[in-house]
Amino acid sequence: MANLSVNIGSTTFKNPIFVASGTFGYGTENPELVDISKLGAIVTKSITLNPREGNPPPRIVETSSGMINSIGLANIGVEKYISNMLPVYEEMDTPIIMNIAGSSMTEYMDIMKKVEAVSSSIVGYEINISCPNVKEGGMEFGVDCAMTEKLTGKLRKLTDRLLIMKLSPNVTDIAAIATSSENGGANAVSAINTVVGMSINHRSRFSDIYTTFGGLSGPAIKPVGLACVHKVYNAVNIPIIGIGGIVNSTDVIEYFLAGSCSVQVGTANFRNPGITEIILNELNNYLDEKGIDSISSLIGSVKTHD
Ligand code: FUM
Repeated sequence: MANLSVNIGSTTFKNPIFVASGTFGYGTENPELVDISKLGAIVTKSITLNPREGNPPPRIVETSSGMINSIGLANIGVEKYISNMLPVYEEMDTPIIMNIAGSSMTEYMDIMKKVEAVSSSIVGYEINISCPNVKEGGMEFGVDCAMTEKLTGKLRKLTDRLLIMKLSPNVTDIAAIATSSENGGANAVSAINTVVGMSINHRSRFSDIYTTFGGLSGPAIKPVGLACVHKVYNAVNIPIIGIGGIVNSTDVIEYFLAGSCSVQVGTANFRNPGITEIILNELNNYLDEKGIDSISSLIGSVKTHD
């Protein structure tokens, strides 16, 4: 059987199939639907300083080959995450990556300080600088190189755990934002968050989403994700976690060829919460059939015509 393990910073993950933030709750909701011990890692829903109700409904709509969401970072807040979730994670043998979102640099830092002040087994943080669905913060940081580098640097000083910046595709130059993350001391970047989208009901003439715009995800954005990952791969030396429209093992292989060292499965979890186990089995069979000893050997090996 091929070696599926991957390294990010000094952490080794048993396989490269992670579940994406916002698509798998806090990692404990689906015990009878998926064997979470088989996952490479779980990235939990974005946590803010205070609990949030999120945006008014409708906040999810299905679109061609994808979906649009505008959840608005609904979450339990950091205090409840610490008291209710961290103890549960101690009992789990699946690595947990905590996703953090904030409306100011101080908020991101305060959340991390609170989590670092208690004992926990989480392996790292994914920093959401790319949410398109909130008025303050979120994407505001991820579209600006100077702010990205400053925030990354400030968070780097607060933790020795993995620090992963989650990048937005809704920028002019994603490679520049990735470089700023690397310069600030990030161990890795994840790419991509959702693509700003809109859906309209032609009969009612209403926007399908309350906030008018939302984030498009699913197979519709896979080509955007691959392009972003490859641009970032050509610009930085830190690992890239590929996200965007992954539904099967060939999608995983394509993301590796583009430059990813692991992937996150997102929207596909809504259709089948057990999809990651299927992808993992397919991936093992694919690598065995092709005689590939280690999945890491594929990273960035796409052939281009130039
Ligand atoms: O609206 C949301 O909660 C989405 C978050 C994100 O895309 O990061």
